[in-house]
Amino acid sequence: MDTKKIQHAEWSSRFAFILAATGSAVGLGNIWKFPYITGENGGGAFVIVYIVCVALIGIPIMIAETMLGRRSGQNPISTMEMLTEEAAADERWRYLGWLGVIAGMLILSYYSVIAGWASAYVLKAFTGSFFDSDATAIKAIFDDFVASPVHLLVWHSLFMAATMVIVARGINKGLEKAVRFLMPGLFVLLVLLMAYAMTTSGYFQGLNFLFKPDFSKLTGSSVLTAMGQAFFTLSLGMGSVMVYGSYLSKDVSIAKASILIAGADTIVALMAGIIIFPLVFTYNLHPASGPGLIFQSLPIAFGTMTGGWLFGVLFFVTLVFAALTSSIALIEPAVAWLVESKGLSREKACIGAGLVTWFLGLGTVFSFNTWSGVTLFGKTFFEVLDYLTANLMLPVGGICIAVFAGWIMKREHSEQELNMPSAQSYQGWRFLVAYVAPAAVFLVFLHVVGVL
Ligand code: PFF
Repeated sequence: MDTKKIQHAEWSSRFAFILAATGSAVGLGNIWKFPYITGENGGGAFVIVYIVCVALIGIPIMIAETMLGRRSGQNPISTMEMLTEEAAADERWRYLGWLGVIAGMLILSYYSVIAGWASAYVLKAFTGSFFDSDATAIKAIFDDFVASPVHLLVWHSLFMAATMVIVARGINKGLEKAVRFLMPGLFVLLVLLMAYAMTTSGYFQGLNFLFKPDFSKLTGSSVLTAMGQAFFTLSLGMGSVMVYGSYLSKDVSIAKASILIAGADTIVALMAGIIIFPLVFTYNLHPASGPGLIFQSLPIAFGTMTGGWLFGVLFFVTLVFAALTSSIALIEPAVAWLVESKGLSREKACIGAGLVTWFLGLGTVFSFNTWSGVTLFGKTFFEVLDYLTANLMLPVGGICIAVFAGWIMKREHSEQELNMPSAQSYQGWRFLVAYVAPAAVFLVFLHVVGVL
């Protein structure tokens, strides 16, 4: 093993870890993606499948992934090298670390473009663009914006630059400081917007759509999407949770922290749904409008409600910050590996990984305009990337993590690392991670490829 282990940072407290991991989990996935995929997949039944996936697959894998990272105290690639050696397992397990680093960069390449939209909307809100606009005018603002590759490119570049600056400063100085006030701020804002949603005429229709299941609307591919979303929203299966776990001190209960993080994440997603769908029905928008959904619904509210200017600015600022605390986690596995194993300085590692990701992001920028007609299996470049990462790479990475933790790693090692309060809770976790999670992911895959 050629890992030159350099001194590894540690979170300043358990609270700092929980905040940072929640920051990584809560992001565009909750506020932008959850509402639009729920809209595309028919509402309530999809939400139930998603929550079941979070509870039965997501949380056990999150515990497993954090545990692997903390045991090694290194980046995902070195973690998998070290643990493979420790368990005397097949050498090929090491590729799992690689899968994660690559998935993280692929996700960030499009994540940054969408976060760029949110950043542009801060300015639009600030300059009063939504003032007194109806649904048609708001849709036109969005359509004009995404039709311009130059605009998307500028905002994508700015967002990538901001991410790299924070990452270059390291976890304690950059990340911890940022999440400490951003996460609570986001929560307060969402509560205020929920109160506003209650005053709209489409409130109950929105809630019905979100919470009243109609299982006839569920297809194999929507189950895959729900499962992929569970991985995406919890940042699982790609080494990001592993790398955060590696900065975690040994006295923190991983299981408790994971349940807390997944709970907070799910609540934020549901809050976003409770805000968006009443607006969608009040203003006769389409739930299945796709990635533009929040950008076409929320500004109508900001344009008409009292104090809408302030709420609009605050909302998009917080959305950008929520995206930042996730984008940091997406690139950290690559940066940590370049620093710890390749001996690069943090700055150089950031520039290298950042440039590659920025370049890949151009594909997404163009897929909304110049290349919108260029498709593969009927999907644009952005849709292909999203499908490949969220629906395939993350679940595959997650299954491998589950199998490694449940079958390959020595039992006494996981028992010691997790230090659960009772033998039953350890057994329960082990059952979920060794049998339930891999079987569920596998069955969904079989169904989607048409075997089941
Ligand atoms: N969980 C983030 C979100 O919901 O926006 C996205 C994400 C972040 C995925 C970090 C994966 C990751 F490693």
